[in-house]
Amino acid sequence: MIPTSVATRLRHAPRSTPAPQLSSTNAPHLPHFLASCFALGIVGLGASSASAQDVVKLGLVMPMTGPLAANGREAVAGAKLYVAQHGDTVAGKKIEIIVKDDASVPDNGKRLAQELIVNDKVSLLGAGFTPTAMSMAPIVTEAKVATVVMISGTSVVTERSPYYVRTSFTLGQQSGIIADWAIQNGSKKVVSIFSDFAPGAEADKVFEQHFTNGGGQVLDTLRVPLTNPDFAPFLQRARDLQPDTLFVFLPAGQAGTFSRQFAERGLDKTGIKLIGPGDIVDDDDLPTTGDSLLGVITAGFYSAAHPSALNKQYVSDYQKATGHRANFISVGGYDGMHLIYETLKKTGGKADADTALAAMKGMSWESPRGPISIDPRTRDIIQNVYIRKVEKVNGEPWAVEFKTFEAVKDPLKEENANPIR
Ligand code: PHB
Repeated sequence: MIPTSVATRLRHAPRSTPAPQLSSTNAPHLPHFLASCFALGIVGLGASSASAQDVVKLGLVMPMTGPLAANGREAVAGAKLYVAQHGDTVAGKKIEIIVKDDASVPDNGKRLAQELIVNDKVSLLGAGFTPTAMSMAPIVTEAKVATVVMISGTSVVTERSPYYVRTSFTLGQQSGIIADWAIQNGSKKVVSIFSDFAPGAEADKVFEQHFTNGGGQVLDTLRVPLTNPDFAPFLQRARDLQPDTLFVFLPAGQAGTFSRQFAERGLDKTGIKLIGPGDIVDDDDLPTTGDSLLGVITAGFYSAAHPSALNKQYVSDYQKATGHRANFISVGGYDGMHLIYETLKKTGGKADADTALAAMKGMSWESPRGPISIDPRTRDIIQNVYIRKVEKVNGEPWAVEFKTFEAVKDPLKEENANPIR
């Protein structure tokens, strides 16, 4: 059953206007009828007249409500945009997407995955944020269902089931690179602030490893509660310690609150450099952050300002369909659908886990974020990581890429495969 609220949530009042020179002027526009289908939530969701064997059902377990709701909305919007652009039929199979809301509660993941497999008879699953992806893993393994991890950024998640394949990212991919960059650019004393759940701990771990290996000093490590975060006391503590640099990780949906509290404390005027993985300059929030994040440097795998024709089209179509700027979570859903479509083309429509996994391993393609592939050894994503600076373009802040690290693997898996003795 599709929650009707999903369709409603996709209809947000536009919060920003796309910057003209960042969106392609000669790119074809998403036809109005597609945008309308999308807004009504009927893309790929309608009752099919096709017979059961001509349908491939995909169950997405996503945080559509609760503290991580922005993440679910973005990943589902990315997935549905792919269907809107490419049609709802591939390799003779009609794709039917069923979204289940885990309400940002990890334990729900297990029950919902079970329901999707047993009652809805889905052939494929999509997993969302880390805690839910962790809780679903034993069910996925037992039922043998190929599952695309579309949001989680925690390294260990893909090791929890042999049927997990990731199209999102890992925090380690970005955090080591920004630590090295900071050392090379004069940072010596850092305070680390991170959201208190698995990806935050991982971002901090990889950052601290690289920063201290480079001769830097970590003055303190501060964990902010994931739910209803109040960054103010942590920012005050960080300021009192007088670091030259602040490393921050928070999940999508919290950058707006963070940037407001950062500016209220006057931290944007202290000269303390703010750095982090891409999450702190989330494109979904950037249009509302005024000047508070200008100059902030991050290492991220996706920026809506990425200068490729494919991305310009993506950002333009996403804006039309949702009223939001496309962000790093949305591409995980979009690329997840690409992986599923290309897999079904390769397997002639077969979606059983062994056949699907064999087709997925090693697949490579151009994403709106740049070139990506699925590591055949780890089933994790290999992607470019870009150093970006927040700059104002046409009156709005954008994370503008200025340096590229190509084909970056998850460093924690590489470390495990080749332990440093
Ligand atoms: C995760 O669930 O691992 C996650 C969610 C949102 C983020 C980063 C990581 O921004």
